[in-house]
Amino acid sequence: MTVSLARHSGFCFGVRRAIQLALDAAQGGQEIFTLGELIHNPQYVQQMADLGIKVVPSAADIHDSIVVIRSHGITKSELQQLTDNGNTIIDATCPYVSRTHDLVREAVTSGIQVLILGDPKHPEVIGMHSYGDQDTLVVAPGDEIPKLRDNRLCVISQTTQTIENLNDLVSKLLPDLLELRVFNTICLATSQRQQASACLAKNSDLMVVIGGRHSSNTRMLARLCAQYTETIHVETEAELKAEDVMGRQNIGLAAGASTPEETIVSVYNKIIKINGELDAVTRISEIPLFKEESC
Ligand code: F3S
Repeated sequence: MTVSLARHSGFCFGVRRAIQLALDAAQGGQEIFTLGELIHNPQYVQQMADLGIKVVPSAADIHDSIVVIRSHGITKSELQQLTDNGNTIIDATCPYVSRTHDLVREAVTSGIQVLILGDPKHPEVIGMHSYGDQDTLVVAPGDEIPKLRDNRLCVISQTTQTIENLNDLVSKLLPDLLELRVFNTICLATSQRQQASACLAKNSDLMVVIGGRHSSNTRMLARLCAQYTETIHVETEAELKAEDVMGRQNIGLAAGASTPEETIVSVYNKIIKINGELDAVTRISEIPLFKEESC
């Protein structure tokens, strides 16, 4: 049996940055709050809580405190409420997400309607939408295109979408429009993870995708891998059963941008232990194929 990890896996630049900003702030010994979970990973959220970094569900619930804005970003009104409540804000919004806010705002200012491609319930998309106007719309991949205001349109994508979904939307829209501006706002970390996972899935008889069930980019990886081979999605090694991996020749691992290194290592070690091997690893860099990112 071979067990390989997709070349690009685990924490992305934006998540690393948000965690580091929160950890730096917590160094002072003061309690730190994050508006919503810093990353979609229950185990990591608990570890952060143990270090004094707590989650508050809403901007209305927090006054005169230090608040870290997570990498997904927040809405314009949440930002205003945090400021009005006298909080000190540490903005860990990923620069790729901030760019989408700027693009939505600029398109609206120049009088062009915006259509956002993404999951309408995802906090990142809700945040993007808040920078639009009353005519700004959201469409989920594959859904029917909503009625548009006129024949000019600007399309901006959630950062974790696939390029196939964006292409599909553009090809449906273009025949009925006079002007279509498209911004490819899918972030580099997302496209690298998707390409690396699909590539590994094509050569594996099982893919194990590791990450939080609420993580949009992890779920996207699982759907993508399932197009090529049998795929299971686990949050931790505890969910992996011996019968899942027994008798496989080539097992591929992939992990979303919010999956901690320790979780990936635990899943890998459990698989090789089931296979009767003793060479446990302590770092993901020791797992075949994985390549540390330079960004
Ligand atoms: Fe940023 Fe992309 Fe990560 S948008 S938070 S680098 S998945």
